[in-house]
Amino acid sequence: MCGIVGYVGERQIKPVLINCLSRLEYRGYDSCGIAVSRDGLKVYKDAVRVNVFDKTLPQLLDGKIGIGHTRWATHGEPSQLNAHPHCDCTGKIAVVHNGIINNFQKLRRQLASEGHKFISETDTEVIPHLIEKYYEDDLEEAVAMALREVEGSYAIVVLMAGEPKLVVARKDSPLIIAIGDRENFIASDVPAILDYTSRVIYLEDDDIGVVSSDNIEVSRHGVAVDRKEHQILWSIGDAQKGGYEHFMLKEIHEQPKVIRDTIGGYVSATEPVASLAIAGGTGLEELLILACGTSYHAALIGKYLMEDLFRVSVRTELASEFNYWGHASSRSQSIVITQSGETADALKTIKRLKEEGCRVIVITNVVGSTASRITDQIVYTRAGPEISVAATKSFIAQLMALYWLALPYAKIDIRRLDSLVAGLRQLPGKVQQVLDNEAVISEYAQQLSKSENVFFIGRGINFPVALEGALKLKEISYIHAEGYAAGELKHGPFALLGSNTPVVAIVARDNTYEAMLTNIKEVKARRSPVIALVEEGDEVVGEVADSVITVPQVEAIFSPVVNTVVLQLLAYYTAKERGCPIDFPRNLAKSVTVE
Ligand code: F6R
Repeated sequence: MCGIVGYVGERQIKPVLINCLSRLEYRGYDSCGIAVSRDGLKVYKDAVRVNVFDKTLPQLLDGKIGIGHTRWATHGEPSQLNAHPHCDCTGKIAVVHNGIINNFQKLRRQLASEGHKFISETDTEVIPHLIEKYYEDDLEEAVAMALREVEGSYAIVVLMAGEPKLVVARKDSPLIIAIGDRENFIASDVPAILDYTSRVIYLEDDDIGVVSSDNIEVSRHGVAVDRKEHQILWSIGDAQKGGYEHFMLKEIHEQPKVIRDTIGGYVSATEPVASLAIAGGTGLEELLILACGTSYHAALIGKYLMEDLFRVSVRTELASEFNYWGHASSRSQSIVITQSGETADALKTIKRLKEEGCRVIVITNVVGSTASRITDQIVYTRAGPEISVAATKSFIAQLMALYWLALPYAKIDIRRLDSLVAGLRQLPGKVQQVLDNEAVISEYAQQLSKSENVFFIGRGINFPVALEGALKLKEISYIHAEGYAAGELKHGPFALLGSNTPVVAIVARDNTYEAMLTNIKEVKARRSPVIALVEEGDEVVGEVADSVITVPQVEAIFSPVVNTVVLQLLAYYTAKERGCPIDFPRNLAKSVTVE
C-alpha cells in the first residue's frame, strides 16, 4: 500500500526521487521520506504530502544513489518517526518497505534484548536492525540472512552508506527494476519510472537483486536467476493529468477510449482471450467470480450477465470473505477480478482456489502484476494506469472483459448475438454521449453535496451499479451513501427516508422497469427527493421522480456501463462541490496490499 523508489546513476538525486515519489502518491500519502548516500547517509522524512516535503529539503542535496517512500500507515500512526526510510543503530543502513512483517514484535523483542534501539512503532524498523546484526562485509548476504528471519510480505530497497549499489528483495509485494542508460531505478509500480525509461524487470517472490548504475544481478536462494526484460506500453502522458483538474475526471473521460482499446485488444488477439469451460458437457459444477471493492461490483454485474446469457447459476464472493469461509473444487471454474493485480485478499483467493484444484482466470489491468503471474489464464484490460484512488475506467474495462468472456457462451440465437456484439462496439459512442451531458449531471451534485445520507437503488443488473454509485460517492465526498436493491428498501431502510435523504434510482428498460416505478413511488411517499437515471425517450419516470438524468439507449445488459458513468460524474462533482481531495481520499490507498 506504500510506494517505494530507488535510484542509482548520474542524475541529481533529489529531483529524481521526488518526481518518482509524486507519481506514486496514489499508493499512499500520509507521509513520505528519502535517504541519500553521500559522505554517510542523510535521511529526511515527515508526515506530509510529497509536494510539501519537497519544499522542506535542502536546496543542494548531493549524491547519486538514494531511496524514497510514500506511506499508507498500517503499524503506527502517520508521523515523522514512523515515516520511512528506517535505519539501524549506526545510521548507516536505510530501508524502505512495502508490506507487513507479521512476526515483527517477536523480532523486535529479541533485537532489543541484544541492544538494538527502536524509535518507531513500525514493523519495518526490524529490517535495518536485522541487516545490521548480520552484516560483516557483504550487504546482499546480510539482507538474505535478515529476510530468512522475517515472516510476512515485503518489497524492500536497502541503501548502505558508502555502497555504490542498492539491494532489493520481494515477497508477496510488487517490485520492479527499471533499466536506464548507465542508471537504474527501483519502484513498486510502473508509473514511478515512466519519465525515465520503459524497460523493466519484474522481480519474483524470494528474489534478491543487487543494482548499481551499470549492473543488475538477481538471485533466488543464493542461485543467480535470469529475469526477462519487458517493455512498458503505457506512456508518461497516460500517467499525467493532461489538463484535467483531477486524475479521476481525466480517467472518467478516457472511458470511451478504454472501451475501444480493451475490446480492440480482444478482437485483434491471435488466440482466444480465455476459455470459460462452462459450456455444456464439461461437468463443471459452478462458476465463481471473486473480487474486492469496485471490482466486486464488476463481479456482481458479471453474475447477472452470465446467469442471463448462460442460464446457469453463478456464485460471487468477496475475496476477503471467501479466504476464510469459502470453498471451491476442481469442478469449479473461477474468475478473479483485480485491477491492480496486487490486492492481498485477491491474491490469497487465487492461491486458495488453485490449492483446491479450481481453474482460475484473472482479469487485471496490470501486466506483470502478481495476480497475472500466479493464475492459469489472464485476461488483460486496457485501461492504462489508473492513478486516482477511486476506480473508474478500470471498472468499465473489467465490464468489457466480462462481456467478451461471456458472449461466446451465450445461449442465444446468432441474430441476437450479432446484435449484442454490435451493441458492444457502439458503447464508446454511448459513453461519450453521457460525458457530453456532464454539465447537466454536475448540477445535481449541488443538491447531493448538501446531504448527510444518500441512497442509490437499482434492480437486476443495475443493482450492483447502485452499490458502485454509493461506493464512489462515499469514498470521495465522505457523504454516507448506501446502495440497495430497490425491492429491499421497504424491508428496513425506509425508516431512514425523508426530505433530507435523496434517493438516486437507476431505471433500466428491462423486466425490472415496472417494479422500479413502483419503488420510486414508494420512496416519494416517504418524501425523499428522487433523481432517476432513465433511458432517452422515457416519459413516464419523469412523472413520478423529482428529476431525471437521461442516458442513451443501449441493450439492457450494457446499461450498467452508461449508468455507472453518470454516477461517477455525480460523485466527482459532489466531492468537488464539498472541496474534497478527490484523487487522494482520506484513509484510502490505491492498491490494498494488506489483508
Ligand atoms: C474503489 C476502489 C477499491 C478497489 C478494491 C480492489 O474505488 O478502487 O474498492 O476496487 O480495493 O482493488 P483491485 O481491483 O486492485 O483488486
